[in-house]
Amino acid sequence: MNPTRPTSPATIIDGIALSATLREEVSRRTLALKARGITPGLAVVLVGNNPASEVYVRNKVKACADSGLHSVLERYDADLTEEALLARIDALNRDPNIHGILVQLPVPAHIDANKVIEAISPAKDVDGFHIASAGALMVGQPGFLPCTPYGCMKMLDSIGFDLRGKHAVVIGRSNIVGKPMAMLLLQRSATVTICHSATQDLKALTLQADVVVAAVGKRNVLTADMVKPGAVVIDVGMNRNLEGKLCGDVDYEGVRQVAGFITPVPGGVGPMTITMLLVNTIESAERCA
Ligand code: GUN
Repeated sequence: MNPTRPTSPATIIDGIALSATLREEVSRRTLALKARGITPGLAVVLVGNNPASEVYVRNKVKACADSGLHSVLERYDADLTEEALLARIDALNRDPNIHGILVQLPVPAHIDANKVIEAISPAKDVDGFHIASAGALMVGQPGFLPCTPYGCMKMLDSIGFDLRGKHAVVIGRSNIVGKPMAMLLLQRSATVTICHSATQDLKALTLQADVVVAAVGKRNVLTADMVKPGAVVIDVGMNRNLEGKLCGDVDYEGVRQVAGFITPVPGGVGPMTITMLLVNTIESAERCA
C-alpha cells in the first residue's frame, strides 16, 4: 500500500443532504415573506428546445414549487427575435411580482447572450451573470453570487474548512464557474491558482492544492495521482461516461481513495446550484420587503 495515502476513503460532501437543510431555511424565509404579503417570484425564460436546458429549467421550476416560491416559465420558439426577448426582459424587470429573472443559456446563435444578460436588472440578476454582479464580486461589494460557485462555498463551509492561507486550485476559467469561484476563494484569503486548457503541467499544480475545484466539463480531468492526500475535491462537472451514466470531471473512484473530502456526481454540486438560485431569489424578495 502507498504509505502517503490515507487508510480510509474520503468523506463524501453530500449535496442532497446539505441542500435539504438549506431549503428548510428557504421555506422558512418564504413563509415569513408571505406573512408580510410578499410571495418571492422567479421568472425562468427558455428560448428554443435544447434538451439539457429543458431538464435544468424543469428542475428549477419544481424547486421553486417545493419551497413555496412563485415561478413562471416563459417558453419561446427558437426563432424568437432578440428584440422580442429584450422586450420581455424589460417587462419582467418592471413586474413587481418577479424578484428574480433567469434566461437559460445557451440562447440560439442569432441572439447575443451578453446583450440579454446585461438587459436583466442587476436587482433581479439571481444567476449573478450581469457585469454589475461580476464587478461587485471582484471588488467585494454586495451583489448576487453565481449559484454554482456560491454552492461550492457552502459545501466547503459545511465541513468547516478554513481557507485562509490554503492553496486552492480551480481548473476551468469560465465566467459562470471558474472565475467567480477563484474570486470567492480569494475573498477567504486562499492562495488561488486558476488552471485552464493552456496550463502546462496541471498535475504539478494540483498536487500542491489543499482544495481542487474541477470545472471544465470533461471526464477524468483530475485523477488520483494528481491529488495531495487529504485534499478537498469539489467536482462541478456534468458529463456522461462511456456507459452513458452521469459523471463529473473527477475520476471519483480513484480520487476518493486519496482525498480527504470529495463531492459526488450526481448528488454533489448539482443540487446545490439550484438551492442557491432559491436563496438568491429569496434574498432579492427580502430586499423589496
Ligand atoms: N446554463 C447552464 N447553466 C446555467 C445556469 O446556471 N444559468 C443559466 N441561466 N443558464 C445556464
